[in-house]
Amino acid sequence: MSLSPARVLTRNRMGWVSAAISDLSQAWVDDCREPAGLPVLDIGAAFSSASLAALDAGISLIANDLDPGHLAELERRAGSAALLTLKPGHFPRDLHFEERSLHSVHISNVVHFLTGKQLDLGLRLIARWLRPGGRLFLQAVTPFQAIFTGFHPEYERRRQAGVRWPGYIPKLSEFAHHRQFSQMPRSVHLLDVEVLSRAASEAGLEIERCWYFRRADQPREILLDGREAVGLIARSPA
Ligand SMILES: C[S@@+](CC[C@H](N)C(=O)[O-])C[C@H]1O[C@@H](n2cnc3c(N)ncnc32)[C@H](O)[C@@H]1O
Repeated sequence: MSLSPARVLTRNRMGWVSAAISDLSQAWVDDCREPAGLPVLDIGAAFSSASLAALDAGISLIANDLDPGHLAELERRAGSAALLTLKPGHFPRDLHFEERSLHSVHISNVVHFLTGKQLDLGLRLIARWLRPGGRLFLQAVTPFQAIFTGFHPEYERRRQAGVRWPGYIPKLSEFAHHRQFSQMPRSVHLLDVEVLSRAASEAGLEIERCWYFRRADQPREILLDGREAVGLIARSPA
């Protein structure tokens, strides 16, 4: 199943849902093919191709999103609701699961909407919800996009000063202007490999891989140096 066209705007102006499945999301979909009695969770799923591919893999999927309309659209696109559970609400505030009850967690292009405090809490909760050996697959937006170059001196200054969340920008318009920002909330949290690895480790997860990459579907004007996205695969201790 796939989406068309390449990117579809979210209903709540929280970015785009892409038709392409990134390498990080594909790794999650592959992991969904492992025999598992437990469901998987996609946080901020919207009506993404990755969620649809996970369902195609035959696993039970709990799909979360702030916007219930996105989840209704996911259900419509999925065709059959047999493997799908919808959980509208805010992550981390509104999500509650039993300890060790999830096979894996996927969260793609969502954490730039969270503060550092919310991300810390969310990662600790995910570590608790995952089965032993279960994995988190996380994809995030980095500062290394051409549209954020106006922020780079401040970002570097914060990094040198040891600021805990150097990529958090409360008011994006102070550093950058782009027509795409009309489709974004006022604040944005850009993550890098160091910050994401530290936050996941502190939450009790074991890092398998944390790396920069370029998504195939990113618009030409944001391309910078191949580090436009960051992926994290981390495991709950067995
Ligand atoms: C850019 S879209 C990404 C959709 C999909 N995960 C993907 O990668 O194509 C961001 C989605 O995250 C949802 N979202 C943003 N903040 C959220 C939060 N705190 N809890 C749950 N969903 C959230 C938005 O409603 C939106 O559907």
